[in-house]
Amino acid sequence: MLSDYFKPEILKKIAAGAGTPVYVYSKAVFLRQISTYKKAFRGLNALFCYSLKANSNRALCALAAGQGLGADVVSGGELYRALRAGFKPGKIIFSGVGKTAEELAYALKSDILFINAESFEEVLELEKTAAKLKKTASFSLRVNPDVAARTHKFITTGRLGGKFGVSFEEAEKIYFYAAGSKHLKAVGAQFHIGSQIYSARPYRLAAARLAGFILKMASRGVNLEYADAGGGWGVKEGFEMPFPGPLARALAAAFKGTGLKLVIEPGRSIAAPTGILLTRVLYRKRGGDKNFIIVDGAMNDLIRPALYGARHPVALLGAARGPIKKYDIVGPVCESGDFLALGAALKEPARGDLAVIYSAGAYGFSMSSNYNSRLRAPEALITGRGAWRLVRKRETLTDLTAKEV
Ligand SMILES: Cc1ncc(COP(=O)(O)O)c(C=O)c1O
Repeated sequence: MLSDYFKPEILKKIAAGAGTPVYVYSKAVFLRQISTYKKAFRGLNALFCYSLKANSNRALCALAAGQGLGADVVSGGELYRALRAGFKPGKIIFSGVGKTAEELAYALKSDILFINAESFEEVLELEKTAAKLKKTASFSLRVNPDVAARTHKFITTGRLGGKFGVSFEEAEKIYFYAAGSKHLKAVGAQFHIGSQIYSARPYRLAAARLAGFILKMASRGVNLEYADAGGGWGVKEGFEMPFPGPLARALAAAFKGTGLKLVIEPGRSIAAPTGILLTRVLYRKRGGDKNFIIVDGAMNDLIRPALYGARHPVALLGAARGPIKKYDIVGPVCESGDFLALGAALKEPARGDLAVIYSAGAYGFSMSSNYNSRLRAPEALITGRGAWRLVRKRETLTDLTAKEV
């Protein structure tokens, strides 16, 4: 039970010390998800590259680096964070559909493991950048396996017609071009079919297609070292990650005997159960036939309910009274889409009670904004029984205008 890691006593202490809203992470949960992955992939010699987009707080990244994980970054900013947090450059990969020349140069100068390129033009830019720096760029290509994954349309990424990756035909052309360049070294091929996938089936299909393609390329003289299967296993809001054994078995079967080194880039499954958003009840009211709880956290803190229809479990920490009713938990932002939960079955809280929004550790703070000129929330880490520390301070009013000229 996730609530075992986020006990009311410590959450009350954190709320008193850091104020609300505040993101609270559990070191124990974070480390457990990592060890679950290691257990499932035991014997496969896989490189786990923690996907910083899920949660790039330095304290969590440092924990992942300390467990020997690499990093998957998608911007120069994430590369900077990964290096600062202590990830070994030789275990960092750089993905993303639109890297700039400056970002490519930064990656090359940092001697990362490889860059996951997504178009012929990007590879040409990479070659030019590498030539300028007198380097050889190790790259992998993100190929689009055209596999449907049953997930939210905003996080399905492996179908042709989407913006991600290149077709196998295009990849073939790019690898042959790279073979003739002294500034390019093709080292891998990647797919990423989406996020929040709970079934091994689409992975099995995509991995079989990728393995077949890599073997075909090898028969034509292009020998790749890495097969990268993209993001991690799905994880339901309110739960720890289910054991990713089926995912490991699907990938192992597809790449068996190929000699390829497997790379996987989990983000959500490690970070989501690790964090909660702790907010305080400001007001209660009725509107039409609806009961509203207005809290001090909002869509600028956690946009997942509004963006993806995510349903985060909610718990109240006060001495709630009366019968269970359905409540919409909404924030102060001036948007009807500003809600953290709809129709949550709860007893009525009192003003000032704390509300816990579970499974907010991934794509929570990292997608937060200053919309409505709200200050971004602080982040706290529970480090042990009754012990916690602040791992990011609350923004201040002066932060809001600091960059304006
Ligand atoms: C290329 C790539 N790798 C890894 C991830 C992380 O996926 P997840 O958080 O589902 O593990 C994503 C997420 O969209 C991605 O686009």
